[in-house]
Amino acid sequence: MNEQKTIADWFNQTYSKRGLNYLRPKEAYYIFLELLAPLPGNAILDVACGPGQLLKVAGEYDLSLSGIDISDVAIKLAKKNLPGADLHAANAEQLPFADNSFDYITCLGSLERIIHLEQALTEQLRVAKPGAKFCYMVRNSDRASWKFIKNTLGIINKKGHQGAKSMQEWSDIFMKTGFKIDHIHHDQWPATRWKRWISLNDTLGKVDYKKIQSPPEQIEKAYEFIFILSKA
Ligand SMILES: C[S@@+](CC[C@H](N)C(=O)[O-])C[C@H]1O[C@@H](n2cnc3c(N)ncnc32)[C@H](O)[C@@H]1O
Repeated sequence: MNEQKTIADWFNQTYSKRGLNYLRPKEAYYIFLELLAPLPGNAILDVACGPGQLLKVAGEYDLSLSGIDISDVAIKLAKKNLPGADLHAANAEQLPFADNSFDYITCLGSLERIIHLEQALTEQLRVAKPGAKFCYMVRNSDRASWKFIKNTLGIINKKGHQGAKSMQEWSDIFMKTGFKIDHIHHDQWPATRWKRWISLNDTLGKVDYKKIQSPPEQIEKAYEFIFILSKA
């Protein structure tokens, strides 16, 4: 079976079995919008949008919503979740949009899943308007837990094309393909999830899911990185 079909089939099966439970809860997605600080009325594209969790939150910021995903099961769920959005089952390596279409482009937990990464990044630059901002969450290969899973246990999910790179490797790829790096943040969810547990899922006080945090651990060791980028 070809590699791209294996990846799409793995995600189709995963979403069919687990639906939204495969992903972080909706509250985890506010931080990406807060980091982008989008202007109401502007257009956002979420590449590899899954069932539409990020776009659901983006709707609360009055943005016009577009998304693509390689999994048609995910896109069916997203269409139910977001009746007014422009959603397509498509490969990130070939985006079904005109040049200069979007003010904001997000791609969360997915760049490492794409076979031809540079092609996908070039496509995102093509469909972005001049001055567009990008928000990417990507996995860190220098994290001890990743090294343990990969090198000691050897349980990388190859069917789902799981992967990771160091902060330097991600930065080099982004700059080489034509992005300017505005900021790199720690993935915010590990710290926020603790607060959520301690508050017993918001029953002992409401967790502020929009607050941007700088955890004390070195950024190079973050669980995942959030890159905020613009066109170079
Ligand atoms: C870990 S999930 C993240 C989903 C979503 N971004 C989120 O954070 O809620 C990875 C997603 O990447 C999608 N994906 C993998 N390869 C892709 C490709 N080449 N083009 C488009 N989507 C892809 C999968 O179908 C899956 O929905």
